[in-house]
Amino acid sequence: MSEKEENKVEVKKRNTIIYNALFLSLGVGLVIFLLNAPEETTVKLPKDEIHAKFMDLPKKEAEKSCEQCHSPEGESPLPEDHPPKYRCLFCHKRD
Ligand code: HEC
Ligand code: HEC
Repeated sequence: MSEKEENKVEVKKRNTIIYNALFLSLGVGLVIFLLNAPEETTVKLPKDEIHAKFMDLPKKEAEKSCEQCHSPEGESPLPEDHPPKYRCLFCHKRD
């Protein structure tokens, strides 16, 4: 190979490494973004006396009690624009 051709090969190799690195960091960034996104937005189950007893119950068991207070007639009604509320603890995490 002439010196020129060798240079071309070197440049190609270097570009491949750069592209792979870019692709990898995009992927890692996306995964971190997805892992972080949900938890930051939705309020967690409060760590107070009212909610303490729900921390250790199985989720479905605990969710039966939420509506006692978080219903339109309860002491702490949900906001009007609350999303579908089928499984409270899927969105309002306990940790
Ligand atoms: C699909 C996800 C989801 C489910 C299921 C869900 N919630 Fe929510 N909840 C939210 C979001 C989003 C908000 C808006 C506030 C926020 O950003 O955290 C909210 C807000 C609330 C608030 C208070 C908001 C305020 O203004 O202080 C309460 C209390 C609440 N939810 C209770 C419940 C209860 C009880 C259930 C089950 C009957 C339930 N949620 C089910 C997502 C959910
Ligand atoms: C005995 C009544 C009662 C029950 C049962 C109850 N809550 Fe609450 N909840 C309250 C009250 C009162 C508040 C507001 C004061 C506070 O943060 O404790 C509240 C606040 C909340 C908040 C936070 C709202 C905010 O703005 O930070 C969430 C989320 C929530 N409850 C979810 C639940 C879920 C899920 C359940 C069922 C596992 C549940 N609650 C059961 C009375 C109750």
